[in-house]
Amino acid sequence: MCGIIGITSIRGNFREPIGKVIRRCLERLEYRGYDSVGIAVIRGNRIEVRKGKGKIAEVSVRLNFDSVDGETAIGHTRWATHGKPSDENAHPHTDCTGNIAVVHNGIISNFLELKEELMRKGHVFRSETDTEVVAHLIEEYLKMGYKPFDAFKAALSRIQGAYALVVAIAQEPNRLYFARNTSPLIIGIGHGANFVASDIPAFLEFTNTVIVLRDGEYGYIEPGKVYVEKDGVPVNIEERIRLISWTPEMASKEGYPHFMLKEIHEQPIAIASTLAGIDEREFNEVVNAILNSRRVFILGAGTSYHAGLVGDYLFTSMLGLDVHTFISSEYRKYLNAVNDGDIAIAISQSGETIDTLVAVRALKERGVKVVAISNVIDSAIPRESNYTIYTRAGPEIGVAATKTFTTQLVVLTVLALKLGLALGKITSNEYRGMIDLLKKTPDLVQSVMTNLEGRVKALSIYISKRQSAYYLGRGIGVPLSMEGALKLKEVAYIHAEAYPAGESKHGPIALVEEGYPVVFSILDDDNVDALLGNVMEMKARDAYTIGLVPEKYVGKFRDLLNVTLEMPNIDYRVAPIVYVVPMQLLAYYTAVARGYDPDRPRNLAKTVTVE
Ligand code: F6R
Repeated sequence: MCGIIGITSIRGNFREPIGKVIRRCLERLEYRGYDSVGIAVIRGNRIEVRKGKGKIAEVSVRLNFDSVDGETAIGHTRWATHGKPSDENAHPHTDCTGNIAVVHNGIISNFLELKEELMRKGHVFRSETDTEVVAHLIEEYLKMGYKPFDAFKAALSRIQGAYALVVAIAQEPNRLYFARNTSPLIIGIGHGANFVASDIPAFLEFTNTVIVLRDGEYGYIEPGKVYVEKDGVPVNIEERIRLISWTPEMASKEGYPHFMLKEIHEQPIAIASTLAGIDEREFNEVVNAILNSRRVFILGAGTSYHAGLVGDYLFTSMLGLDVHTFISSEYRKYLNAVNDGDIAIAISQSGETIDTLVAVRALKERGVKVVAISNVIDSAIPRESNYTIYTRAGPEIGVAATKTFTTQLVVLTVLALKLGLALGKITSNEYRGMIDLLKKTPDLVQSVMTNLEGRVKALSIYISKRQSAYYLGRGIGVPLSMEGALKLKEVAYIHAEAYPAGESKHGPIALVEEGYPVVFSILDDDNVDALLGNVMEMKARDAYTIGLVPEKYVGKFRDLLNVTLEMPNIDYRVAPIVYVVPMQLLAYYTAVARGYDPDRPRNLAKTVTVE
C-alpha cells in the first residue's frame, strides 16, 4: 500500500527541477503510505537517491528534494510491510552498483529465496525489504549481457507476488520500466513527459489522459512513447486511452486544512454528480441480472461493507430479496453455498482492495455474476466484474472514506428503487417521489452541514477527552452507526463501537458510566419508540447522550439528550445519506482536537492491496 511514481520528460519541460515536480506528485500519493519517502533521479550516467524515514513535508525539506534536477525520476511513499520504517528500508532501492533504482508497491512473496541466491553470488543487500531483490536481479541479468529491457523481463519472470514496479536504469536516462501484477499502476500521457503512478491524482496536474494497466502487463515509458507488453506480445494500448474528467483542483485541498474536511464538504456535489451520471441502460441491465438471480450476495471492506449493509437492509426489508452481506475477506464461508444462479454486488471505492478482488475472483469461478460499484474507472474490480456502476465522487484523497460512502449509498438506493418498481413492491408514484427526494439530498446535506458544523465542532471537544463511545441505532440505523463508529475510531483513535440499540442491554451497557458518550441515530421509521426506551436506559446510567433526531421528534427526545442534533424529516430509506455527515464531521473535528492529522491516520492506507 505504497505510492509510486515515475516521470520521464524532455529537457526543460517542467521549468523547475524534477525533484520538485516529483515531490508534489508524491504529496498527492501520500494517502497511500507515510512511513518514509524517497526519490531517485537519473543525472548524467548515474542515479542520485535521496530518501528517509518520515513524512514528505519533513523529509523533502531535510534532503532538499526540490533542488535535484534531471529529466527522469522515480519516487515512493511507503506503508511498511517488510522491514520497519527506517532510512535504509525507504525506497528507492538500488543494486550493488547504484545504477539501477526500483520503487515498488506490493509484496514479493519469494524474496527470501531470491535474496539468498543473490547473496551467494556476492550481492550485498542494504535493506530488509522484499523490493531490493528486484534491483539486484536486474543487475545480475545485465552482468550476464542482457539488454536492459530483457534484464527487466528476466527479473520479472523470477518474482512472485503482488507488485507495481517502476525501475530506472542509469544507462538509459530517457526511459523507465514498469510492471503491474495485482497492485494498481496507471500511465499518464502528457506533453513532453510521460508518467506512471499508483493513482491518477499523482500526475493530474500535468495530464488527464490515462491508460490503466492490467495484471501481467509491463513495458516502458519514454518522453514521447509508451510501450506495453504482456506474455511477450505487444499490447494495443490506443483503444485503452481514457480522458478522465477529474481536475487538478479536485486533487488539491483548495484552502481546506485537510482533504477529509474538503471531501465531507464536497458531498453535495458528489451526490448530485452521481445522480446526474446515472445511465438508465446500465442500471436496467443490472436490475435484470438481479431479477434473474436466485440470491444476492453483497460484499465490501470497511466503509464499503457498511454501504453494503445499508443496501442489504433496503433489498431485504423493502424488496423481500434473499440477500447475504459479508466482509470481503470472509468470502470462503460462502464458496460451497454459491452457484451460477447467484449474483454478487462487490463494493469498492478504489476498485483495487485485494480482499474484495480475491473474493470476486473466487465467486466468479463458481459461476456467480458480479456487479461492481466503484469510484475508479477501469480499476481491477470493475474490470473483472460482469457489470459495473460507477459513483462519481471525484478523487478521494483523505484516507477515511466520506464522499465515496454517500455516493455508494445513492447507487444502492437507486438500484433498490428500480428493483422495487420492477417487482411491484413500490408504485410508480412512490418511485418518483423517492427519486425526487434523492435529488434533494445534496441540498439536505448542505443544510445539515451549514446548521450543525459549529455544534458538532463544539461537541468534538467533549468527545476528544473520552476514551470510548457507543453508536446505537435500529434498522437501517445500525450500519449507519457502524460507519459513524469506524470514522471516529480510525481518525481520532477513540475506541468506538456500534450496536443495534436493542442489543446494547445484552452486554455493552455494562461499560456505561457517568459521562460515557452514546450517539443515537434516530430515523423516521417504526423504531422510534423502542429507541426512546434505549435512550432512557442510557440516561438512567448517566451516559452522555447525543441524538441525531428528525425535527418532528425533537420534542419527544429533548429531555433525554445531552446534545440534540436536529435532522430533516426524511424518509428513513434515504436518511443514511444525510445522517452520516454529522458523524463524519464529529470524527474529523475530534481528530483535530486531539492533535491528529485526519488525512493520515496511523497504520492505515487508503487502498489495501495486501490480504
Ligand atoms: C474507512 C476506509 C476503509 C475502506 C476499505 C475499503 O474510512 O476508508 O475502511 O472503506 O479499505 O476500501 P475500498 O472501498 O476502496 O474497497
